[in-house]
Formats: sequence, structure tokens, C-alpha cells
Amino acid sequence: MKRFFVAVLLCCLLSAASAWAKGGMLLVAFGTSVDKARPAIDAVVKTCGAQADGPVLLAFTSDIIRKKLAAAGENVPSVNAALRQLADQGVDEVLVQSLHIAPAEEYSQLERMIVRFVTKNPGVFKSVKVGYPLLVSEKDLNTVVSVVLDALPERRRGDAVVLMGHGNDRGPGDLVLAAAATAFHKADPLVWLATVEGANSFDRVLPQLRAAGVKRVWLQPFMLVAGDHAVNDLAGPEEDSWASRIRAEGMTPLPHLVGLGEIEGIRRLFLEHARHAVIDLAAPGKAE
Ligand code: CO
Repeated sequence: MKRFFVAVLLCCLLSAASAWAKGGMLLVAFGTSVDKARPAIDAVVKTCGAQADGPVLLAFTSDIIRKKLAAAGENVPSVNAALRQLADQGVDEVLVQSLHIAPAEEYSQLERMIVRFVTKNPGVFKSVKVGYPLLVSEKDLNTVVSVVLDALPERRRGDAVVLMGHGNDRGPGDLVLAAAATAFHKADPLVWLATVEGANSFDRVLPQLRAAGVKRVWLQPFMLVAGDHAVNDLAGPEEDSWASRIRAEGMTPLPHLVGLGEIEGIRRLFLEHARHAVIDLAAPGKAE
């Protein structure tokens, strides 16, 4: 009997504690101003946001893109402005989910932005937990390889696939993308991944396509959105786009401009990372 009362008391205390805390969620992407690319981001916001028990905001880190959108009448906040908005709405437990592909430079920047906010505004948030980007573990990579390959259009025998990742000259992202390139190629020897920036250049892939005697090449962005890079650098008409370089080799490029955010399995992985977020940047000294 006594145990029953203790349990009831505990339940009351716990529900009171959660009533005092107000949760909110912030999803952060680089951003896009390409209208057709945007549903990929909105779909991830919808999937992850459905799990939140408070306000859900989307922030873009790119100043240029936010300015462009503002000129067209849409105000997407910066990370700083979005954290401010959540605080103004009384949120004190924030869950930030990175919509980046790799724990690379853009993700490090996001962490620094949050740390700057909580340092300048001490006590505003009880916790600011951050969910990892898409690819941080081997398990993530296996999931991503299988869902991305499954989402491709039906290929003819001998069709190759080239995935375009972003990459970066700075930070640790290139190693993650190199691991992804290896994993895709191991899963299917006719699939290659290269990046716009950084070490995993398309220059390395083109001779391999030639050597494999490939005739048709599917082109798939390996980014959250099929935005500017996909439209221009991957599939655009300019001489140095990947599609043009493939065509110049006598092969047929077949652009499949679907952002990763449009793939359900990718959205589920972001959601899983949000659910398992443990890093609390409002209490960085605390042992986890
Ligand atoms: Co770029």
C-alpha cells in the first residue's frame, strides 16, 4: 500500500515537473532558394516536428539565402533569431536537429552558434539538446546506402549512378563522404559518389566510368535538397557540369533531381537522431 502511494506521488511530481518545462524544436539546414527543392526540407520538418510537444521552427544558416527569401516575402530565421523566438514563446527545453548530411563544417558552425547564444543568454534555456546530422555511425551509413539505392528509378542492366555530395575543403566532412563513397561502391560497383568541394572530386570518378564501359549514368544529388548545386553543377547545361562532362565522354546522363529529404527512410533517420539527442549545449560541462 505504502509503495502504491509512493508511486502515485512520484507520478504527480513527474507530471508537475514536465508541466513546468516547455519544450520546443528547431530544425536547422543550410537553406535553399530553389522553389522546387523546398518540399524536401518541409517534408523533414513535418516528420521531425510531428514528434515535438511544443513549437517547431525552421532556421537557415545561409545569410544569402535568407536575404533572397526575405526579398520574396518569406522570413526564415537565423539560428540566433529562432532561438530568441523560442525563448520569447516560453520554451526552456530546446531540441535542435541538424539537417546536415555529415558532422562537418556547417554542423560545427551550428554548435558554435548555439554555444554563443546560451553564453550570451545564461539561464534562458534549461537545456539545448542537439541531434546529430545524418551520417555519424556505420549503422547510419548502411541505412542511408540502402534507402538511397532503393529510391533510385528502375535502372537498366549496366546503368551507372553518380551521387553528388557537397564536401568541404575545411573540417572533417571529407572523410565521412569518402566512407560513404566506399560504402555505396561496395554495395553496388556501378555506383560512385563524388563531391562539389573537397577531396572527393568528380575528376576521380569520370575515368572509372569510362573504364567500366558505362553507357548511361543516373545523376542523383547526395544533399538534403536538389537545389542550386543539383540544378547547375550536376545537371546544368554548362560545359563543366557533371552531365555535360559525362555527355562529352559519349555517355548519356540521366538526372534524377530528388533531394535526400524527399526520401522517407532519410527523414526517419533524422527523426531517430532527434529522439536520441544527448549533447546538451546549455550544460556543456555535464557528464552524459
Ligand atoms: Co555549396
